[in-house]
Amino acid sequence: MTAAPPAPAATLVTGIGQLVTNDPERGAGPLGLLRDAAVVLEGDRVAWVGPAATAPPADARFDAEGRAGLPGFVDSHAHLVFAGDRTEEFAARMSGRPYRAGGIRTTVAATRAASDAELEAGLRRFLAEALRQGTTTVECKSGYGLTTADEERALRIAARHADETTYLGAHVVPPEYAEDPAGYVDLVTGPMLDACAPHARWVDVFCERGAFDGDQARAVLTAGAARGLGLRVHANQLGPGPGVRLAVELGAASADHCTHLDDADVAALADSETVATLLPGAEFSTRSRYPDARRLLDAGAAVALSPDCNPGSSFTSSMPFCVALAVREMGMTPDEAVHAATAGGARALRRTDVGVLRPGARADLQLLDAPSHVHLAYRPGVPLTAAVWRAGVRAV
Ligand code: NIG
Ligand code: FE
Repeated sequence: MTAAPPAPAATLVTGIGQLVTNDPERGAGPLGLLRDAAVVLEGDRVAWVGPAATAPPADARFDAEGRAGLPGFVDSHAHLVFAGDRTEEFAARMSGRPYRAGGIRTTVAATRAASDAELEAGLRRFLAEALRQGTTTVECKSGYGLTTADEERALRIAARHADETTYLGAHVVPPEYAEDPAGYVDLVTGPMLDACAPHARWVDVFCERGAFDGDQARAVLTAGAARGLGLRVHANQLGPGPGVRLAVELGAASADHCTHLDDADVAALADSETVATLLPGAEFSTRSRYPDARRLLDAGAAVALSPDCNPGSSFTSSMPFCVALAVREMGMTPDEAVHAATAGGARALRRTDVGVLRPGARADLQLLDAPSHVHLAYRPGVPLTAAVWRAGVRAV
């Protein structure tokens, strides 16, 4: 056992030219914007947020020199426990071949063949990559093992490093069950669930043509709920379908993708607590049409953004990239996109301690080499991350 690192003393981060708090009681508008702001980080928590001129003293002082600050990004949708890559599939797609759910099986074969150490090293690499780009909270799914033992180990490994873990045994029907999909659903809702539930907070299902239909998805979700897991759904990614409505009906925390929605889907989301989590990296990397965030926001739905990092449909861990896409391609304003990448992700994970800067929140703060959070969209592709604290520890 290695000793836990000592809790850092109180640090005053001051000279923040413009700070997104996501706390409308603390600053202006939905982003709770403050100018010339400061934050005191104490242990792993935020101790104080306000105007720099009235900041209390602290043991250490960090001068942001006018940089913009915001909460660490909250990534509520990632598939990071896998082996192998699908470069050739991507290249073929860019020559015109369409994306299909079945590509997942390529990664399943490589993941089953990998050692625990290889899977863990890969996961840590992607978490570090995300952290370098400002992401301080990550949800991580299983879904590339698809046997009881392989799903259990994926979640056991994920639970060591990720903030939130999700059981996705129902990602696709594996080849050995090709002739017996009902038998696979029995496994996912029976012995595999028993083995995986202790390592997971959430259950997810890929409800899509080529993966699981509405009835199968309902069986997976209700079985998970009966084991105390919260619900998330991969819904309406590749075409219209029952996923979004099912997510809302069952009270899922999040319906993810939401690319192909009809008016009833939008109305259902708007009238619910289910967050529409949009994953524009997938549309970018499959050269598909983007979800219409504007339509969802105008209807009153809650929206989150995530890179959907996975080796098939979206091999990026970059939240700034998604913010830029959401603004350019999905009708979001820069403020809405930054809110969706922070507070939106927290809401999709039903977390009140991240995605916000207020006393008592986890001390997850990032500074940008820019005067405003708007630069995340205004300067696409530029590495703006200047400093990151996660749980009070300086990580970048
Ligand atoms: O979120 N849609 C299902 N799962 C992933 C893709 C997984 C893969 O292609 O390997 C997604 O896009
Ligand atoms: Fe996904």
